[in-house]
Amino acid sequence: MFVLCWLLSLWAAGACAAPASDAPMQVYTRATQSLDGEWKAIVDPYENGYYNYRYEPFDRQPEPPPGAFFTDSKMRTPSELIEYDFDKSISLQVPGDWNTQDPRLYYYEGSVWYRKKFDAPSHRPSDRVFVHFGAVNYRADVYLNGRKLGVHEGGFTPFRFEVTGRLKDAGNSLVLKVDNKRHADGVPTLNTDWWNYGGITRSVELVVVPAVFVRDYRLALASLEDREVEGSVLLDGAQGGERVVLSLPELGIRESAEVAADGRAGFRFRVPGAHLWSPGNPRLYRVEIATEGDTLVDRVGLRTIAARGRQLLLNGEPVFLRGISVHEEYSADGGGRVRDAQQARQLLQWAKELDANFVRLAHYPHNEHIVRLADEMGLLAWSEIPVYWTIDWTNEATYRNAQDQLAAMIGRDANRASVVVWSLANETPVSEARNRFLSRLVAKARALDDTRLLSAAMEKHYRSDDPDVAVVEDPLADLLDLVSFNQYIGWYDGPPEKADRVRWEIPYDKPVFVSEFGGDALQGLHGDAGQIWTEEFQENLYRRTLAMLDRIEGYAGVSPWILADFRSPRRLLPGIQDDYNRKGVMSEKGVKKKAFFVLRDYYRGRAGQGGGGDVAAAGAGPPP
Ligand code: GCU
Repeated sequence: MFVLCWLLSLWAAGACAAPASDAPMQVYTRATQSLDGEWKAIVDPYENGYYNYRYEPFDRQPEPPPGAFFTDSKMRTPSELIEYDFDKSISLQVPGDWNTQDPRLYYYEGSVWYRKKFDAPSHRPSDRVFVHFGAVNYRADVYLNGRKLGVHEGGFTPFRFEVTGRLKDAGNSLVLKVDNKRHADGVPTLNTDWWNYGGITRSVELVVVPAVFVRDYRLALASLEDREVEGSVLLDGAQGGERVVLSLPELGIRESAEVAADGRAGFRFRVPGAHLWSPGNPRLYRVEIATEGDTLVDRVGLRTIAARGRQLLLNGEPVFLRGISVHEEYSADGGGRVRDAQQARQLLQWAKELDANFVRLAHYPHNEHIVRLADEMGLLAWSEIPVYWTIDWTNEATYRNAQDQLAAMIGRDANRASVVVWSLANETPVSEARNRFLSRLVAKARALDDTRLLSAAMEKHYRSDDPDVAVVEDPLADLLDLVSFNQYIGWYDGPPEKADRVRWEIPYDKPVFVSEFGGDALQGLHGDAGQIWTEEFQENLYRRTLAMLDRIEGYAGVSPWILADFRSPRRLLPGIQDDYNRKGVMSEKGVKKKAFFVLRDYYRGRAGQGGGGDVAAAGAGPPP
C-alpha cells in the first residue's frame, strides 16, 4: 500500500509528469495565446528555491514545502516564514536573454526563476492544450501550479509540455528554473567563442488543438524533371482511418488520404505549373492540411538542392553560395539574442546588402523568424547544432543531447526551402571517438531528412613536406555532401600576404565550401594595411583571401566570419575588443567597415554566375 501511496504522491507532486514530447508541433502559423512580455524573476545562484539545506531537490518530495519557489507561495499567516515573493521581485522580458536586461546579470551563469500568471485559454472540454517554448538557454525545469511538467536541456531548439486538464480557469502559475551554467558534457561544452546568453530567449505560447490535430507534415520536391512532390502528414490522437486533405490552392492541388494507425498518411503529386523557389525568385505557396476539426496552414517553397561531383546544383543548375556567417545576436540596441522578427529581418537585410544569397546560421539553430524570413527574402541557409570544439565524445548522454537537438532542428525547419544544409559540427578535433560520435549523427540526420546536404565546418592542416600547401582531409568528409572548412590565413595563421602563395589540396570529388575566414577590425580605427585591428588590415585580408579562394578547385561558396561584431568572453582587449569579437564586416551597431564593400563587390562580380534562378534580386543596384 505504501508504494502505491508513494507513487500517487509523486504523481501529485508532478515529479513523474508527462515528459516533453520531442516530435514536431508546428505552431508558428497557428493561432496561439502568447505568454510573452513581462515575467517576474528571482535570481537564485545557490538554488535555494530548488534544494533544501541538505541539498535535496524539493520537487522529489511528496509534498513540496512553500519554500520551494516553484510553488509560488505567499504567506498564509502573519508568522509564516516565506523567504521569496515573485510579485515583489524583478521583471524580465520574454523573449530575451537576461544578460542584457539587467547589468547585474551581464556575466551571470546560474539559475534564474521565471514566473508567469495567466488565465486558461478558451477551449472545449475535448480540446488539448500545450505550452510551447521556442527555446530556453540552457536547461529548463518547468512547473505548472506547483507541479513539475518536466525538464528540457539544449539552448536553441523548441519544446513543449501538454497541460490538458491541468489548468485552472484563472490564475495559473507557470514557473521555470532556467539554468545557463556550462557543463563539460553539455552541447555546447564549456568553451565557446560566443556569449552565454541565459534565459527564456524565444517566445512562449499556449496552443489549443482538437483531440486529433495536425502535429507535423513534410513537403519536398522529389523530382525536378517530373515536378513531383512527395509529402507526408502526421496526425496526433488519430486511431487510423481518419481522412486528411492536403491542398496547394494556387496550384490546384487537393489530395486526400486516410491515415494509418500511427496517424501518418503519404502523398505524391505533380505540380507542373509550379515556380521553383530560388534566391532570385523566392516563390512560396500556401499549403493547407485539413482533418476533421483541425487545419494547419503554412507557406512552402519548392526547390531541389544537390551535389553532383564538385558542382552544387540548385534546381538542377550550378549555384555559387555568396554567403556570410551570422550569430543570432542583435547588439545594435545594446541587446543580445535576437528577440523578434524585426531584428531578424534587419540581420538578413544587411546580408542582402552584401548581395549575399546565403547565410550560415552559426553555431546553433537560430530562431524560427530567421529561417522563415530567409524563405521570404530569398536567402539560402545553413543550419547547425552546437557540436562545437571539444565535445565529450565518449559520453552517451552527450550524444543523446546532440541527437535530440538535431532532431528538433530538422523537425522544426524541414519545410523551409531556404534551409539547404544541415551542419553537424564546428572545428571538432579529429579522433576515433569524435569520428564515431559524428558518424552516428550523420546517419541520424540522413534518416530524418534525405532531401538536404549534410556538412560540418572542418579544419585544414599543411602538408608536412610543403608549408605552402594547405590540405583539407578529414574522415568526416567522406560522409558529407559538402566539404566545408574554416581557415584563418592572415589572422591566426601568418600575415594576409601568406594567402598570395598558399595552394590547396582538397582530395574529394565534392563541392568545397569555405565556412569561415576573417580578421578583426575595430570599426572607425584606421591606419595602414599592416596595422592590426584597423579596417585597412581587414580590408587587405579580405582582398587577398578572396583571390586565394578563387584558385580552389570545386570552390562552391564562402561565408566569411562574420556579418557583425558579437559578444564573446574570449575577446578582452580594452579599447579594441571590450567583450566583442571584431571579425564582423560591420560593427555591432550595424556600421559597415571597408571589408563589407570588398565582399559586396566580390559578390556582385559573381551574382548571376549561379543558376537555379539565382539572379540578383531586383533592386540590388548597379555595381559601384
Ligand atoms: C572559429 C570559430 C568561431 C570563432 C572564430 C574566431 O573558427 O568557428 O566560432 O568565433 O573562429 O576565432 O573568431
